[in-house]
Amino acid sequence: MSFKNILVFATFAVAAYAAPQKRAECSAGRTASNAACCQWFDVLDDIQENLFDDGECGEDAHESLRLTFHDAIGFSLSAEREGKFGGGGADGSIMAFAQIETNFHANIGVDEIVEEQRPFALKHQVSFGDFIQFAGAVGVSNCAGGPRLQFLAGRSNISRPAPDLTVPEPSDATQKIFDRMGDAGFSPVEVVDLLASHTVAAQDHVDSTIPGTPFDSTPSQFDAQFFIETLLKGTLFPGNGSNVGEELSPLPGEFRLQSDFEIARDPRTACEWQSFITNHNSMVTKFETVMSKLSILGHQARDLVDCSEVIPVPNTKVNPPKLPAGKTLADIQGACAATPFPRLSADPGPATTIAPV
Ligand code: HEM
Ligand SMILES: *[C@@H]1O[C@H](CO)[C@@H](O)[C@H](O)[C@H]1NC(C)=O
Ligand SMILES: *[C@@H]1O[C@H](CO)[C@@H](O)[C@H](O)[C@H]1NC(C)=O
Repeated sequence: MSFKNILVFATFAVAAYAAPQKRAECSAGRTASNAACCQWFDVLDDIQENLFDDGECGEDAHESLRLTFHDAIGFSLSAEREGKFGGGGADGSIMAFAQIETNFHANIGVDEIVEEQRPFALKHQVSFGDFIQFAGAVGVSNCAGGPRLQFLAGRSNISRPAPDLTVPEPSDATQKIFDRMGDAGFSPVEVVDLLASHTVAAQDHVDSTIPGTPFDSTPSQFDAQFFIETLLKGTLFPGNGSNVGEELSPLPGEFRLQSDFEIARDPRTACEWQSFITNHNSMVTKFETVMSKLSILGHQARDLVDCSEVIPVPNTKVNPPKLPAGKTLADIQGACAATPFPRLSADPGPATTIAPV
């Protein structure tokens, strides 16, 4: 090739490479990189208005995030190695076979959100597996400081019921939780990353006499308060005494799961736990990374279409990390040997009481 020909060739190559990709036209003037993503804008509009009460980070958003986990964790690498069926992962089986899976003890309460979500999935004719992951990603994007999760579409609607005992219980020993999560491909540190979900969470069923009891003081913010408050010395039960899977909580109206208490203090995970207190960006980024993995358990990313652009960009405004009013650093049970607990100051004012969500 002459020098001139090389130039001509190079010019063509650059032009072909840089040619703008034609974007698909979707509803309301929106566009998508892939036409298959357009329908998700319509699902988005519908669930923001009619499932999440106009884009709130409330109970339905929290429950939808929880459901992404309870569907996806029905998955077992060891069963797969032995040629057995250990669950199909993020396959929608918890909705398709709700009458089986929502009766598993660890799934107590998820029947409510499954039945709330089902009509939306049917109306838009999307697979149950896609819908559950989409709703969780949209729901948590409504939380201030929240992640913008990846959303890949195209999971099959065909599934089989997951076996029982794939979902960890709050009363399980930490080793048992780490073993179960390891069998789905998650390290102990990644379990901590996943538990950033509990920054926007409340319980209804561990103590069913006090539904809506949050795990931290800011259940509509994806912030560090959960990681701080789980390290405070426990002093009380918010309800009528202790329940299976419950630990003493530090604040009236706040609920502490035994598993969160233990994982916050375990030498394998305490430093990851503490690190999120002063690094919001790392908490969000690591949650996004680990959720990309969780949301496609049982699938290959290359078989799915990336429709992440449909997920809203969350509001980034969160309060700085602080000790709840009435607490001091002496109330903190620091457990990370490598790094001292950060010198947080306490909110002024009278001792904090947490309101139900
Ligand atoms: C590691 C083991 C885990 C255990 C033992 C656990 C246990 C629990 C329990 C017992 C509840 C209270 C349910 C109720 O009484 O209504 C809860 C709530 C919740 N969990 Fe987890 N969880 C774990 C991991 C996860 C993960 C990985 C996610 C999501 C990625 C998640 C998301 C949530 C959310 C968002 C709620 C709040 C639901 C609401 O407010 O209605 N959890 N969890
Ligand atoms: C998905 O499967 C359920 C049955 O489990 C069915 O009712 C629904 O119509 C299916 N949805 C699609 C999009 O095929
Ligand atoms: C707590 O227990 C007492 C005595 O058993 C009972 O009278 C009360 O109604 C319970 N409170 C709640 C919220 O269930």
